[in-house]
Amino acid sequence: MRNKIIDRAKEHVGRLLEQQLDRIERIKTGEKVIDYLQIQPIIVGIIGGDGIGPYIANEAQRVLEVLLANELSSGKIEFRIIEGLTIEKRAEVNKPIPEDILEEIKQCHVTLKGPTTTPRKGDPWPNIESANIALRKELDLYANVRPVRVPKDGIDWTFFRENTEGAYALGSNGIDVTDDLAVDFTVTSTQGSKRIIRLAFEYARRNNINKLTIVTKANVVKTTDGKFLKIGQEIAKDYPEVEADDWYIDIMTAKLIDPKRRKQFKVLVLPNLYGDILTDEAAELQGGVGTAGSANIGDKYSMFEAIHGSAPRMVEEGRAKYADPCSMIRAGAMLMNHIGFEDRARKLGMALDITSQFEKKLVNTGRDTGATGREFCDYLLDTINDSNLKEKWKLYQ
Ligand code: IPM
Ligand code: MG
Repeated sequence: MRNKIIDRAKEHVGRLLEQQLDRIERIKTGEKVIDYLQIQPIIVGIIGGDGIGPYIANEAQRVLEVLLANELSSGKIEFRIIEGLTIEKRAEVNKPIPEDILEEIKQCHVTLKGPTTTPRKGDPWPNIESANIALRKELDLYANVRPVRVPKDGIDWTFFRENTEGAYALGSNGIDVTDDLAVDFTVTSTQGSKRIIRLAFEYARRNNINKLTIVTKANVVKTTDGKFLKIGQEIAKDYPEVEADDWYIDIMTAKLIDPKRRKQFKVLVLPNLYGDILTDEAAELQGGVGTAGSANIGDKYSMFEAIHGSAPRMVEEGRAKYADPCSMIRAGAMLMNHIGFEDRARKLGMALDITSQFEKKLVNTGRDTGATGREFCDYLLDTINDSNLKEKWKLYQ
């Protein structure tokens, strides 16, 4: 009996290892890094998602339409609205991303994506994999870049979260060995670690940031986190001007709320799950997860999104229109930056800082005690059009 159980588990693990070794071969082959200057039109897919997604995606689209008006009318940029990445449709076809929608997404160079509901055990939906995770894997979006800034507290962090490996690589492929024994897997590859860590160091170098922190739990999770840390320390030698240190995730979560110590952190690179958790904590310090955007970068495709989920409860309670659109608009700024419109991205970032952190003439509370997303967005657009935008922003630095 026991032999049979173990054989079944071994076969399962064997299949997973095959898939992972294939994936590593694909990373080794590599994709050419896309050059947006050479592309016309740059196709930007806009995916509403579900829950509050379509509401906040819509506001982000309005902002981009204003800031990219010239390029949209000259044909340098094209927007494509991609409908149907909803939990209902995904449940109907029992796939994290329906085939036709995946095809549409692959026709775009970059996408702006609203949150999508991730079914949990016990939900009325089939237990399909998260659309986010599936897209990250499918499009090989290996870097999840999440900036968090709170100027008044001296906080200016950029997290580089590994986005295709760690506990997420096989998060839906664990095994119930028996009724009593469940096993999940975590995966770290040399190639996967190198590319994210190098990207983080390159970012530090390019932006004259002299500090980079590698976060793991390598004292306990010795093999996979140990590998990530060791590779990080090796790569650090190529960047002598960037001071690299390493912290364990537990004490890191503590230090992020230590007003004296947290200022020292600048660029942080970390495996998937730790990055997931730490960036929510960091975003909370900035004003909540509703305020933070996130870039999922690969060599060929990139996807920009909010860091939070679809908040179905807000929709059920009729509060969707009060959802804070800042996360999606920040994601839109990151998208513009990524495709070569750095100045306009900076301008939008400043306007967001002014409206949501400094001036706060309107505040989103997620309910009728605050502004609607639409009202907030109108306020933001007025701020963008203010000829004193830069001076205003400087006042608060
Ligand atoms: C995020 C989200 C996702 C994640 C969920 C929705 C699967 O929390 O982007 O941080 O865990 O990566
Ligand atoms: Mg998260």
